[in-house]
Parts: sequence; structure tokens; C-alpha cells
Amino acid sequence: MRVAVCVSGRGSNLIALLDRLESSPAAAVVLVLTDRADAPALARARERGVATVVLRDYRDAAAWLGPLGEVQTELLVLAGFLKLVPAEVVQAFRGRIINLHPALLPQFGGPGMYGRRVHEAVLASGTRESGATVHLVTEEYDRGVILAQARVPVLPDDSPETLAARVQAVEHRLLPAVVLEAARVGRPVPLSTPLELTP
Ligand code: GRF
Repeated sequence: MRVAVCVSGRGSNLIALLDRLESSPAAAVVLVLTDRADAPALARARERGVATVVLRDYRDAAAWLGPLGEVQTELLVLAGFLKLVPAEVVQAFRGRIINLHPALLPQFGGPGMYGRRVHEAVLASGTRESGATVHLVTEEYDRGVILAQARVPVLPDDSPETLAARVQAVEHRLLPAVVLEAARVGRPVPLSTPLELTP
């Protein structure tokens, strides 16, 4: 399966995916897109020899569709992409775009819920459990069908940073698992076997 990954930030999930796919012929990252030319993820993709595209204007669907088509993308993964994907791109790849969210959707999602804010909201709510979610992307933030989740405990002395680190550790295993399952089936599907994910 030919996978494109869209990133805005550090790229630790991109690296986890590249590492996992090294030992699997079922899927390969063929393109990395970013809306931020200064994203550390972009440099990391280049270091790993992956083709990259910087979107000058992430709202311009043609800027996505050209490169995605050129590399014959079959799956688009949003791994820390913080903006809304243009509706034309969602339509062109309906059911073939997945996003990684650092909480247990449908809670703690939606516009403005990204990065540290998610973990602050989780801590403020008093819940004792958080985690990571992979879901299909629609025209709205964080609303598509949930494909897989991994749970982690929220500990009494957690800060947003300690909770984020615990969630990221499971993200790094959850996202590759969903991508490999998509490659096996031919499109993103709910994970058939729940993962044993302990941080
Ligand atoms: C992840 O926590 C993901 O859930 C969220 O953005 C973060 C990206 O981290 N959407 P990284 O850039 O992969 O390190």
C-alpha cells in the first residue's frame, strides 16, 4: 500500500511508522506533506530519504491532489497535522484518510483540541483514563469512524507533559498497526484484534 503522511510537528509518529514498515513489504511511505517548512518532521523525512512536499497554502486542494496523485497514494495518514484537510481532498480520498488523535474520541476532540490543550482538558475533567485514537477523516475535525484506540491510565500526579508522553508511547504502536491492517485489507478498517498496548 502506497502511504502518504501529512505532518506539522515533531514527526515521532512518522518515524515510528517508517521504522515499523522497514520490516514489512505490505506498505511503504512514498510521500510526506507538510504545511510547515520548519517542521522537524520534514527534516526527519528527508533524512530517511522520503520524498517531501511543502504546501504553501494548505487550503489549496490542488496543491495536495497533484503530488498525492503523482505517487499514486492509496492511504493518507495525518500524523500530527493540525489543520483541516480541504474538502476536495477528503472527497477524492473518502475512506482512505486516517488521523491520529491523542485522546479517547469522541471525548476531547473537535476544533482547537490539539497538542497540550487535549491533555490539559483530560486532566481538568478528572477522568482516570486517556489514550490515543485512529479514525477516518471527514470534513469535520475528529468526527469520522473510529478504527482503533489504545488506553493509558491518568495518574494522580500527571502534568500535561507526563500524560502526553504516556499517550505518545502507545500512539507509536497503534498507528503502524492500523496502517498494516489497512495494507492487508486494501483500505483502512477497524482493527480486528485489540492491541495489547501497555505504555
Ligand atoms: C500526536 O500526539 C498526535 O496524536 C497528534 O499530534 C501529535 C503528533 O506528534 N495529532 P508527532 O509529531 O508525531 O511527534
